Amino acid sequence: MCGIVAYVGGRPAAPLLVEGLRRLEYRGYDSAGLGVIQGGKIATRKCAGRIDALAARLAEYPVSGTVGISHTRWATHGPPTDANSHPHFDASGRIAVVHNGVIENCAELKRLLEGRGHAFASETDTEALARLIGEFYTEAGEKGEAAFLIALRAALRRVVGAYGLAVLCADCPDTVFGARRGSPLVVGLGRGEHFLASDVNAVVAHTRDVIYLGDGDLVALRADGFEAARLDEREAKIEVHRIEHDAGAAEKGEFAHFMLKEIFEQPQTLRNALRGRFNTEDATSVLGGLNMTAHELRRVDRIQMAACGTSWHAGLLGGMWIEEFARIPCEVDYASEFRYRNPPLGSGTLFVAITQSGETADTLAALREAKRKGARALGICNVVGSSIAREADGGIYLHAGPEVGVASTKAFTSQVVVLALLALHLGRLHHLSALEGARLLRELEAMPGKIERVLARSEEIRRIAARYKDAASFLFLGRRFNHPVALEGALKLKEISYIHAEGYPAAEMKHGPIALVDEKTPSVFLCPRDGMYEKILSNLEEVRARRGPVIAVATEGDDDLAKKADAVIEIPEAPDPLVPLLGNVALQLLAYHTAVALGRDVDRPRNLAKSVTVE
Ligand code: G6P
Repeated sequence: MCGIVAYVGGRPAAPLLVEGLRRLEYRGYDSAGLGVIQGGKIATRKCAGRIDALAARLAEYPVSGTVGISHTRWATHGPPTDANSHPHFDASGRIAVVHNGVIENCAELKRLLEGRGHAFASETDTEALARLIGEFYTEAGEKGEAAFLIALRAALRRVVGAYGLAVLCADCPDTVFGARRGSPLVVGLGRGEHFLASDVNAVVAHTRDVIYLGDGDLVALRADGFEAARLDEREAKIEVHRIEHDAGAAEKGEFAHFMLKEIFEQPQTLRNALRGRFNTEDATSVLGGLNMTAHELRRVDRIQMAACGTSWHAGLLGGMWIEEFARIPCEVDYASEFRYRNPPLGSGTLFVAITQSGETADTLAALREAKRKGARALGICNVVGSSIAREADGGIYLHAGPEVGVASTKAFTSQVVVLALLALHLGRLHHLSALEGARLLRELEAMPGKIERVLARSEEIRRIAARYKDAASFLFLGRRFNHPVALEGALKLKEISYIHAEGYPAAEMKHGPIALVDEKTPSVFLCPRDGMYEKILSNLEEVRARRGPVIAVATEGDDDLAKKADAVIEIPEAPDPLVPLLGNVALQLLAYHTAVALGRDVDRPRNLAKSVTVE
C-alpha cells in the first residue's frame, strides 16, 4: 500500500528520499511527505497529490540534513489532504512517524489521548501512534536513545493492528528508528549510510545488501551501524541478503509505461520461471523449494488455494490443471473469504497461497489460518523475502523481477506457468504418463516464442482498441481453460481504463449478462481452436444475433471465424490447457491500448494500489 523510505548517512537526505519515493510511487500516490532532522528539530514538508507536488514544495522551501524519513500514501484513515499526509507528530513536535498499515484500536487510543488533552491535527490512525509514543517518552522524564526506545516499545505494545514504521526523535538526531508488524520493512546496508524502506526497489540504486525485518523487529539505524532488537525481548534474527536485480529492472527504459514494459518482458520472465526446473529424463519438473518429499506429495489428497485479484485468476487456471494432470481435487478461494469461511482442512490438504507481492493482507491471513489448522502451506510469490515467502512451509518463486505497473501482467503469466510446473510435478507422482509429461514440458518451452508472436501484434491490437474505446461496457467470454482469462481480461480493462467489464463463462452468459448486449457493447470472445471451439461459436452467434459487436481472440489462420467477428486478434496454436496464456497476453494489450487511448494514468490507476496490506 503506502511506501516508506528513510535515510541516515552523510549525504543530503531530502533528494535521496524523494528519489526513493518515486521508485515506490506505485504503492500509493495520493499524498507524500518527509521529515528531516535540521538544526536539532524535525523539518517537515508534506502535501496531497503526487511526488512531483512534494518535490515542487521542496524546491520552494528546501530542507537540509542527512537524517530523514518519508512516505507516499494510499489513504485508509481520512481523505488525501495535506494534514493527513505523513509524517505525523507527537504533541511536542519532536517525534515524527511515517506508517504503513492500519492501527485497529485507533478509536480507543484516540479516546485515551483526548482524555489527556490531546487535540488531533489529522484524521489518521498514525497521528494517534505518534502522540502515544510522545506520551510515554514524556512520562519517562529522560531524554536520549535508551529512553526513546523504551517509549517506542511501550507504545507499540498498546497497538493492535499492522504497521511498518520509520520514526525520528529530535533528541536522537543521528538515528532513524524502524519497527515492523505485518507490513514489510527492509534495511539497506550502505557504506557509512543506512536506508530503511518498505520495498527493496527504493534502496537498490544505492545498495544490494539488505536485511528483511521480521514481525516484531525493532531497529535503530545510524550512519556507522545499527542495532536490532525484538518487541518481545527475544533475539532478533538478522540475515543479510543480496538483491539479484539492479535498479534498472525497476525503471521504464524506452517504454512509455511500466505496464507496457512488463507486458513485453513476458517471454523473458517466462524463461526465468522455467529455467532449471525441467527434468526431461523423468518428464517432470524440479521444484526444490517445496520442501516436501515425493512420499509426502503423494499423500496430498486435496489442494486448497487462496489469492486475491489477478493472482486469484492464476489460481483458477492452476486449479484446473491440477485436477486435469494430477486428478487431485482443488478448490480456489478468494483469500478474503477463505480466512473467515472455516473450511475443513485435513492433514492431506496442501494449501497454496498465490501472490505477486507476498504481502497481501488477506492472503497472508489465509495462509496463517491454513497453517493453524494443520495444513502444509506453500507460497507462490514473486517478491523474495516477502512475508508470505517467509511464513510458508515451502514454495516456488516466480523470478519475474520487480513488477511496478499496478495492474499485474508478467506476474500472472509466471504464476500460471509455475502452477503448470506444480501440476506436472504432482501429476507425475499420481496419474500422468511420461509421454504426457514430456509433451507438456516441450509445450511450456515453446511458450515464450509464441508469446513473442502475440506481442508482435501490439499495433493491430492498438487499432482495435481505438475502435472500441468509447464503449461504456464490455463482456469477456471464454469457456473451460479460457474462463479464468475472460475474468482476467475484464479485470485488466476495468482496472486501467475504468470501462465497466464483466468476465463470464460464455455459455452462462445466457442466464443474465446477455441482457446487456446491444450494438454498443462489445463482447470479447476467447475462441481458439480447442476442445470447446464449436461450443463457443454457438455462444458467439447468440451475441451476433443481438447485434453485439464481437472481438474474437482466435487461432492464427481461422478464416471462418474472421468472417463472423467484427475484429480478430490472432494467437498461435497451443494445447488446450496452455492456450489461455496466449489469449491473456492479447487481452493485456487490449486493456493497455484502450487505457492509453482514453488518456488514463496506466501505471497508477485511480483508487488502486499495487500491494494491499490492509484487510
Ligand atoms: C492488488 C493489485 C492486483 C493484485 C492483487 C493481489 O489489488 O492491484 O494487481 O492482483 O492486489 O496482489 P498479490 O500481490 O497478492 O498478487
